[in-house]
Amino acid sequence: MDSAAAMSSEDRIAQFDKYVIPNYTRYPISLVRGEGQHCWDAEGKRYLDLFPGWGCNILGHCPPRVTQAIQEQAAKLVHIPNTWYMEPQGDFAEMLCTRSFGKAFFCNSGAEANEGALKLARLHGMKEGRYKVITFEKGFHGRTLATTAATAQPKFHDGIGPLVAGFKYAPTGDLDAVAALVDHETAAIMIEPIQGEGGVQIPADDYLAGLRRIADENNCLLIFDEVQTCMARTGTWFGYQQWNVQPDIFTMAKGIAAGVACGAVITTSELAPDLRPGMHASTFGGNPLAMAAGIATVQTIEEENLLDNVAAMSERFRSHFASLAEELSIISEIRTRGMMIGVELTIPSTPAVGKCMEKGLLINATQGTVIRLLPAVNISAEEVDEGFGIIADVLRDMANEAA
Ligand SMILES: Cc1ncc(COP(=O)(O)O)c(C=O)c1O
Repeated sequence: MDSAAAMSSEDRIAQFDKYVIPNYTRYPISLVRGEGQHCWDAEGKRYLDLFPGWGCNILGHCPPRVTQAIQEQAAKLVHIPNTWYMEPQGDFAEMLCTRSFGKAFFCNSGAEANEGALKLARLHGMKEGRYKVITFEKGFHGRTLATTAATAQPKFHDGIGPLVAGFKYAPTGDLDAVAALVDHETAAIMIEPIQGEGGVQIPADDYLAGLRRIADENNCLLIFDEVQTCMARTGTWFGYQQWNVQPDIFTMAKGIAAGVACGAVITTSELAPDLRPGMHASTFGGNPLAMAAGIATVQTIEEENLLDNVAAMSERFRSHFASLAEELSIISEIRTRGMMIGVELTIPSTPAVGKCMEKGLLINATQGTVIRLLPAVNISAEEVDEGFGIIADVLRDMANEAA
Protein backbone atom coordinates (compact mmCIF):
# COMPACT_ATOMS: atom_id res chain seq x y z
CA MET A 1 0.00 0.00 0.00
CA ASP A 2 1.62 3.30 -0.99
CA SER A 3 -1.12 5.83 -0.33
CA ALA A 4 -2.13 7.29 3.02
CA ALA A 5 -5.80 6.50 2.35
CA ALA A 6 -7.81 5.35 5.36
CA MET A 7 -5.68 2.52 6.68
CA SER A 8 -6.95 1.00 9.93
CA SER A 9 -4.80 1.18 13.05
CA GLU A 10 -4.36 -2.59 12.80
CA ASP A 11 -3.04 -2.44 9.23
CA ARG A 12 -0.80 0.50 10.11
CA ILE A 13 0.70 -1.50 12.97
CA ALA A 14 1.37 -4.40 10.59
CA GLN A 15 3.11 -2.02 8.18
CA PHE A 16 5.30 -0.68 11.01
CA ASP A 17 6.11 -4.22 12.11
CA LYS A 18 7.41 -4.90 8.63
CA TYR A 19 9.25 -1.69 7.77
CA VAL A 20 10.00 0.41 10.87
CA ILE A 21 12.83 -0.36 13.31
CA PRO A 22 11.13 -1.32 16.58
CA ASN A 23 13.04 1.01 18.91
CA TYR A 24 9.92 2.59 20.38
CA THR A 25 7.24 1.10 22.59
CA ARG A 26 4.07 2.30 20.87
CA TYR A 27 0.46 2.22 21.99
CA PRO A 28 -1.72 0.36 19.47
CA ILE A 29 -3.50 3.26 17.78
CA SER A 30 -2.62 5.20 14.66
CA LEU A 31 -3.26 8.94 15.03
CA VAL A 32 -4.32 10.67 11.84
CA ARG A 33 -5.45 14.20 12.70
CA GLY A 34 -5.25 16.83 15.42
CA GLU A 35 -6.88 20.13 16.28
CA GLY A 36 -6.30 22.15 19.43
CA GLN A 37 -6.16 19.87 22.47
CA HIS A 38 -7.64 16.91 20.61
CA CYS A 39 -6.52 14.31 18.11
CA TRP A 40 -8.24 11.44 16.33
CA ASP A 41 -7.21 7.88 15.51
CA ALA A 42 -7.76 6.04 12.24
CA GLU A 43 -11.05 4.65 13.56
CA GLY A 44 -12.35 8.16 14.30
CA LYS A 45 -12.02 7.98 18.08
CA ARG A 46 -11.28 11.39 19.64
CA TYR A 47 -8.66 11.88 22.38
CA LEU A 48 -8.02 14.81 24.68
CA ASP A 49 -4.23 15.21 24.64
CA LEU A 50 -2.56 16.29 27.88
CA PHE A 51 0.86 15.27 26.58
CA PRO A 52 0.74 16.67 23.05
CA GLY A 53 3.82 15.80 21.04
CA TRP A 54 5.78 14.89 24.21
CA GLY A 55 5.76 18.59 25.01
CA CYS A 56 6.59 19.73 21.47
CA ASN A 57 3.05 20.85 20.64
CA ILE A 58 3.18 23.77 23.05
CA LEU A 59 0.09 25.29 21.35
CA GLY A 60 -1.75 22.00 20.89
CA HIS A 61 -2.34 20.34 17.54
CA CYS A 62 -2.15 22.36 14.31
CA PRO A 63 -2.35 25.85 15.86
CA PRO A 64 -3.87 27.97 13.07
CA ARG A 65 -1.34 30.81 13.08
CA VAL A 66 1.63 28.42 13.02
CA THR A 67 0.04 26.25 10.33
CA GLN A 68 -0.57 29.33 8.20
CA ALA A 69 2.99 30.60 8.72
CA ILE A 70 4.38 27.21 7.62
CA GLN A 71 2.15 27.18 4.55
CA GLU A 72 3.14 30.70 3.55
CA GLN A 73 6.86 30.08 4.16
CA ALA A 74 6.72 26.78 2.24
CA ALA A 75 5.54 28.69 -0.81
CA LYS A 76 8.42 31.20 -0.46
CA LEU A 77 11.57 29.35 0.65
CA VAL A 78 11.66 25.93 2.32
CA HIS A 79 15.36 25.54 2.87
CA ILE A 80 18.56 27.42 2.28
CA PRO A 81 21.82 26.62 4.02
CA ASN A 82 23.63 28.78 6.51
CA THR A 83 25.98 30.08 3.86
CA TRP A 84 23.40 32.83 3.32
CA TYR A 85 21.62 35.34 5.52
CA MET A 86 17.88 34.82 5.73
CA GLU A 87 14.95 36.80 7.04
CA PRO A 88 13.14 34.31 9.32
CA GLN A 89 16.29 33.16 11.14
CA GLY A 90 17.32 36.71 11.95
CA ASP A 91 13.83 37.61 13.13
CA PHE A 92 13.42 34.50 15.28
CA ALA A 93 16.88 34.90 16.84
CA GLU A 94 15.99 38.49 17.73
CA MET A 95 12.67 37.38 19.25
CA LEU A 96 14.32 34.72 21.43
CA CYS A 97 17.32 36.79 22.51
CA THR A 98 15.31 39.91 23.35
CA ARG A 99 13.23 37.69 25.64
CA SER A 100 16.39 36.20 27.19
CA PHE A 101 19.89 37.46 26.34
CA GLY A 102 22.87 37.05 24.04
CA LYS A 103 22.95 35.24 20.70
CA ALA A 104 21.36 32.12 19.20
CA PHE A 105 22.57 29.08 17.26
CA PHE A 106 19.84 26.94 15.65
CA CYS A 107 19.67 23.19 15.15
CA ASN A 108 16.90 20.59 14.94
CA SER A 109 16.41 18.83 18.26
CA GLY A 110 17.11 18.87 21.96
CA ALA A 111 20.00 16.44 21.85
CA GLU A 112 21.58 18.45 19.06
CA ALA A 113 21.17 21.68 21.03
CA ASN A 114 22.81 20.06 24.04
CA GLU A 115 25.66 18.78 21.86
CA GLY A 116 26.18 22.37 20.73
CA ALA A 117 26.18 23.60 24.32
CA LEU A 118 28.67 20.92 25.39
CA LYS A 119 30.99 21.71 22.48
CA LEU A 120 30.78 25.41 23.28
CA ALA A 121 31.64 24.69 26.94
CA ARG A 122 34.67 22.64 25.89
CA LEU A 123 35.78 25.14 23.26
CA HIS A 124 35.62 27.86 25.91
CA GLY A 125 37.19 25.73 28.64
CA MET A 126 40.04 24.32 26.56
CA LYS A 127 41.98 27.58 26.98
CA GLU A 128 42.46 26.51 30.62
CA GLY A 129 42.43 22.75 30.08
CA ARG A 130 38.80 22.46 31.22
CA TYR A 131 36.64 19.77 29.61
CA LYS A 132 34.61 18.01 32.33
CA VAL A 133 30.88 18.61 32.73
CA ILE A 134 28.91 17.90 35.90
CA THR A 135 25.38 16.62 35.32
CA PHE A 136 22.71 15.32 37.68
CA GLU A 137 21.06 12.07 38.70
CA LYS A 138 17.56 11.73 37.21
CA GLY A 139 18.55 14.24 34.49
CA PHE A 140 17.84 13.68 30.81
CA HIS A 141 19.73 15.37 28.00
CA GLY A 142 19.12 13.32 24.85
CA ARG A 143 20.09 10.21 22.91
CA THR A 144 23.26 11.06 21.02
CA LEU A 145 26.42 9.50 22.42
CA ALA A 146 27.52 12.64 24.30
CA THR A 147 24.06 13.54 25.60
CA THR A 148 23.44 9.94 26.66
CA ALA A 149 26.67 10.10 28.62
CA ALA A 150 25.48 13.43 30.06
CA THR A 151 22.28 11.68 31.16
CA ALA A 152 23.07 10.30 34.61
CA GLN A 153 20.63 7.40 34.46
CA PRO A 154 22.33 3.99 34.10
CA LYS A 155 19.29 2.51 32.29
CA PHE A 156 20.18 4.63 29.24
CA HIS A 157 23.83 3.52 29.21
CA ASP A 158 23.32 -0.23 28.91
CA GLY A 159 25.23 -1.68 25.99
CA ILE A 160 26.49 1.50 24.34
CA GLY A 161 29.79 1.86 26.14
CA PRO A 162 32.41 3.06 26.33
CA LEU A 163 30.62 6.30 27.17
CA VAL A 164 31.90 9.68 26.00
CA ALA A 165 34.40 10.72 28.68
CA GLY A 166 34.35 13.75 30.91
CA PHE A 167 30.95 13.62 32.65
CA LYS A 168 30.68 13.58 36.44
CA TYR A 169 27.33 12.84 38.05
CA ALA A 170 26.04 14.68 41.10
CA PRO A 171 23.05 13.80 43.26
CA THR A 172 20.23 16.24 42.65
CA GLY A 173 19.55 18.84 45.32
CA ASP A 174 22.90 18.63 47.11
CA LEU A 175 25.06 21.73 46.55
CA ASP A 176 27.93 20.42 48.68
CA ALA A 177 28.15 17.32 46.48
CA VAL A 178 28.43 19.54 43.40
CA ALA A 179 31.10 21.70 44.99
CA ALA A 180 33.05 18.55 45.87
CA LEU A 181 32.97 17.34 42.25
CA VAL A 182 34.19 20.60 40.69
CA ASP A 183 37.90 20.79 39.96
CA HIS A 184 40.32 22.78 37.77
CA GLU A 185 39.27 20.67 34.75
CA THR A 186 35.55 21.40 35.10
CA ALA A 187 34.22 23.30 32.09
CA ALA A 188 30.55 23.43 33.08
CA ILE A 189 27.71 22.41 35.34
CA MET A 190 24.68 21.36 33.27
CA ILE A 191 21.15 20.86 34.60
CA GLU A 192 17.50 21.01 33.61
CA PRO A 193 15.90 23.80 35.71
CA ILE A 194 13.06 21.30 36.23
CA GLN A 195 13.88 17.67 35.53
CA GLY A 196 11.14 16.47 33.19
CA GLU A 197 11.80 12.85 32.30
CA GLY A 198 13.13 12.53 35.86
CA GLY A 199 9.56 12.99 37.10
CA VAL A 200 8.95 16.77 37.16
CA GLN A 201 11.51 17.43 39.88
CA ILE A 202 11.28 21.07 40.92
CA PRO A 203 14.37 22.50 42.63
CA ALA A 204 14.35 24.20 46.03
CA ASP A 205 14.08 27.99 45.69
CA ASP A 206 17.79 28.71 46.30
CA TYR A 207 19.21 25.67 44.48
CA LEU A 208 19.85 27.07 41.00
CA ALA A 209 21.31 30.24 42.57
CA GLY A 210 23.60 27.92 44.54
CA LEU A 211 24.78 26.27 41.32
CA ARG A 212 25.34 29.73 39.80
CA ARG A 213 27.52 30.63 42.78
CA ILE A 214 29.55 27.40 42.56
CA ALA A 215 30.11 27.95 38.83
CA ASP A 216 31.22 31.56 39.40
CA GLU A 217 33.53 30.67 42.28
CA ASN A 218 35.20 27.97 40.19
CA ASN A 219 35.38 29.85 36.91
CA CYS A 220 33.24 27.34 35.04
CA LEU A 221 30.03 27.75 33.05
CA LEU A 222 26.43 27.09 34.03
CA ILE A 223 24.33 25.43 31.32
CA PHE A 224 20.57 25.04 31.62
CA ASP A 225 18.93 22.39 29.47
CA GLU A 226 15.62 24.13 28.75
CA VAL A 227 14.54 21.69 26.06
CA GLN A 228 11.39 20.99 28.05
CA THR A 229 11.05 24.19 30.10
CA CYS A 230 11.37 26.72 27.28
CA MET A 231 8.71 28.73 25.51
CA ALA A 232 6.24 29.64 28.28
CA ARG A 233 6.02 26.06 29.55
CA THR A 234 6.69 27.08 33.16
CA GLY A 235 4.77 30.37 33.06
CA THR A 236 7.76 32.50 32.03
CA TRP A 237 9.40 32.49 28.60
CA PHE A 238 12.21 30.33 29.92
CA GLY A 239 12.51 28.22 33.04
CA TYR A 240 15.52 30.11 34.43
CA GLN A 241 13.34 33.22 34.73
CA GLN A 242 11.26 31.42 37.37
CA TRP A 243 14.26 31.62 39.72
CA ASN A 244 15.92 34.69 38.23
CA VAL A 245 19.19 32.80 37.77
CA GLN A 246 20.80 33.45 34.42
CA PRO A 247 22.91 30.65 32.93
CA ASP A 248 25.87 31.20 30.59
CA ILE A 249 24.28 28.91 28.02
CA PHE A 250 20.81 27.46 27.68
CA THR A 251 19.30 25.08 25.19
CA MET A 252 15.83 24.81 23.72
CA ALA A 253 13.84 22.43 21.54
CA LYS A 254 10.47 20.67 21.98
CA GLY A 255 7.93 23.55 22.03
CA ILE A 256 10.21 26.15 20.42
CA ALA A 257 8.40 25.98 17.07
CA ALA A 258 5.09 24.45 18.24
CA GLY A 259 5.88 20.97 16.90
CA VAL A 260 8.16 21.70 13.95
CA ALA A 261 11.61 20.17 14.44
CA CYS A 262 13.85 22.90 15.83
CA GLY A 263 16.41 23.41 18.56
CA ALA A 264 18.50 26.34 19.73
CA VAL A 265 21.46 27.24 21.88
CA ILE A 266 21.49 30.69 23.48
CA THR A 267 24.66 32.06 24.99
CA THR A 268 26.10 35.38 26.04
CA SER A 269 27.62 37.70 23.45
CA GLU A 270 30.99 37.18 25.19
CA LEU A 271 30.93 33.37 24.84
CA ALA A 272 29.32 33.24 21.39
CA PRO A 273 32.57 33.72 19.40
CA ASP A 274 33.97 30.50 20.91
CA LEU A 275 31.57 28.58 18.66
CA ARG A 276 33.68 29.71 15.77
CA PRO A 277 33.18 29.03 12.04
CA GLY A 278 34.17 25.50 11.13
CA MET A 279 33.79 24.16 14.68
CA HIS A 280 30.04 23.63 14.73
CA ALA A 281 27.20 23.59 12.24
CA SER A 282 23.87 22.02 11.32
CA THR A 283 22.73 21.74 7.70
CA PHE A 284 19.03 22.08 8.49
CA GLY A 285 19.57 24.29 11.56
CA GLY A 286 17.68 27.56 11.40
CA ASN A 287 15.89 26.64 8.18
CA PRO A 288 13.19 29.09 7.06
CA LEU A 289 10.30 26.70 7.65
CA ALA A 290 11.17 26.03 11.31
CA MET A 291 11.99 29.69 11.88
CA ALA A 292 8.63 30.82 10.47
CA ALA A 293 6.89 28.34 12.79
CA GLY A 294 8.94 29.65 15.74
CA ILE A 295 8.06 33.26 14.98
CA ALA A 296 4.35 32.40 14.80
CA THR A 297 4.67 30.50 18.09
CA VAL A 298 6.09 33.53 19.91
CA GLN A 299 3.45 35.79 18.37
CA THR A 300 0.64 33.45 19.42
CA ILE A 301 1.90 33.16 23.00
CA GLU A 302 2.15 36.92 23.26
CA GLU A 303 -1.03 37.97 21.49
CA GLU A 304 -3.18 35.38 23.27
CA ASN A 305 -1.71 36.24 26.71
CA LEU A 306 -0.75 32.62 27.21
CA LEU A 307 1.72 33.30 30.04
CA ASP A 308 -1.32 34.37 32.09
CA ASN A 309 -3.25 31.32 30.93
CA VAL A 310 -0.43 29.03 32.06
CA ALA A 311 -0.55 30.52 35.58
CA ALA A 312 -4.34 30.13 35.82
CA MET A 313 -4.52 26.61 34.36
CA SER A 314 -1.55 25.44 36.40
CA GLU A 315 -3.31 26.49 39.60
CA ARG A 316 -6.49 24.78 38.39
CA PHE A 317 -4.63 21.49 37.83
CA ARG A 318 -2.81 21.83 41.16
CA SER A 319 -5.93 22.41 43.21
CA HIS A 320 -7.79 19.56 41.45
CA PHE A 321 -4.98 17.13 42.20
CA ALA A 322 -4.58 18.46 45.76
CA SER A 323 -8.21 17.63 46.55
CA LEU A 324 -7.85 14.23 44.90
CA ALA A 325 -4.77 13.56 47.07
CA GLU A 326 -6.93 14.10 50.14
CA GLU A 327 -9.27 11.40 48.87
CA LEU A 328 -6.68 8.89 47.52
CA SER A 329 -3.71 7.78 49.59
CA ILE A 330 -2.01 6.38 46.45
CA ILE A 331 -1.09 10.01 45.58
CA SER A 332 2.03 10.81 47.58
CA GLU A 333 3.15 14.10 46.02
CA ILE A 334 2.02 16.67 43.46
CA ARG A 335 4.66 18.69 41.65
CA THR A 336 3.54 21.46 39.32
CA ARG A 337 5.20 24.43 37.68
CA GLY A 338 3.21 25.99 34.88
CA MET A 339 2.24 23.34 32.36
CA MET A 340 4.60 20.74 33.84
CA ILE A 341 2.65 18.48 36.11
CA GLY A 342 3.92 15.44 37.97
CA VAL A 343 1.74 13.29 40.21
CA GLU A 344 3.78 10.85 42.28
CA LEU A 345 1.98 7.62 43.17
CA THR A 346 2.76 4.94 45.70
CA ILE A 347 1.92 2.34 43.03
CA PRO A 348 3.15 1.90 39.40
CA SER A 349 1.93 4.74 37.19
CA THR A 350 2.35 3.14 33.75
CA PRO A 351 -1.02 1.28 33.79
CA ALA A 352 -2.75 4.67 34.06
CA VAL A 353 -1.63 5.56 30.52
CA GLY A 354 -3.49 2.68 28.85
CA LYS A 355 -6.54 3.10 31.11
CA CYS A 356 -6.77 6.82 30.27
CA MET A 357 -6.33 6.04 26.58
CA GLU A 358 -9.32 3.71 26.67
CA LYS A 359 -11.33 6.62 28.08
CA GLY A 360 -10.12 9.00 25.37
CA LEU A 361 -7.27 10.78 27.18
CA LEU A 362 -3.55 10.82 26.33
CA ILE A 363 -1.07 11.21 29.22
CA ASN A 364 2.43 10.01 30.08
CA ALA A 365 4.05 8.05 32.89
CA THR A 366 7.71 8.32 33.86
CA GLN A 367 10.15 6.97 36.46
CA GLY A 368 7.81 4.08 37.23
CA THR A 369 5.54 5.90 39.67
CA VAL A 370 4.93 9.36 38.22
CA ILE A 371 2.03 10.52 36.04
CA ARG A 372 3.36 13.32 33.87
CA LEU A 373 1.34 15.90 31.97
CA LEU A 374 2.76 18.54 29.61
CA PRO A 375 -0.47 20.23 28.48
CA ALA A 376 -0.41 22.88 25.79
CA VAL A 377 -0.15 26.44 27.12
CA ASN A 378 -3.45 27.41 25.47
CA ILE A 379 -5.53 24.73 27.21
CA SER A 380 -8.92 25.93 28.49
CA ALA A 381 -10.49 25.51 31.93
CA GLU A 382 -13.07 23.09 30.48
CA GLU A 383 -10.32 20.95 28.98
CA VAL A 384 -8.39 20.92 32.27
CA ASP A 385 -11.54 19.79 34.08
CA GLU A 386 -12.35 17.14 31.48
CA GLY A 387 -8.81 15.69 31.53
CA PHE A 388 -8.55 15.79 35.30
CA GLY A 389 -11.94 14.07 35.60
CA ILE A 390 -10.75 11.12 33.52
CA ILE A 391 -7.47 10.82 35.45
CA ALA A 392 -9.36 10.98 38.74
CA ASP A 393 -11.68 8.14 37.65
CA VAL A 394 -8.73 6.04 36.54
CA LEU A 395 -6.80 6.66 39.77
CA ARG A 396 -9.89 5.79 41.86
CA ASP A 397 -10.11 2.47 39.97
CA MET A 398 -6.39 1.84 40.44
CA ALA A 399 -6.63 2.65 44.16
CA ASN A 400 -9.48 0.15 44.53
CA GLU A 401 -7.53 -2.52 42.64
CA ALA A 402 -4.47 -1.89 44.83
CA ALA A 403 -6.47 -2.02 48.08
C1 LIG B 1 15.38 18.06 29.09
C2 LIG B 1 15.58 17.37 27.79
N1 LIG B 1 16.73 17.51 27.13
C3 LIG B 1 16.95 16.91 25.95
C4 LIG B 1 15.99 16.12 25.37
C5 LIG B 1 16.26 15.49 24.03
O1 LIG B 1 15.51 16.16 23.06
P1 LIG B 1 15.33 15.51 21.61
O2 LIG B 1 14.52 14.27 21.79
O3 LIG B 1 14.62 16.58 20.82
O4 LIG B 1 16.69 15.23 21.09
C6 LIG B 1 14.77 15.94 26.01
C7 LIG B 1 13.73 15.07 25.42
O5 LIG B 1 12.83 14.59 26.06
C8 LIG B 1 14.55 16.58 27.25
O6 LIG B 1 13.40 16.43 27.91
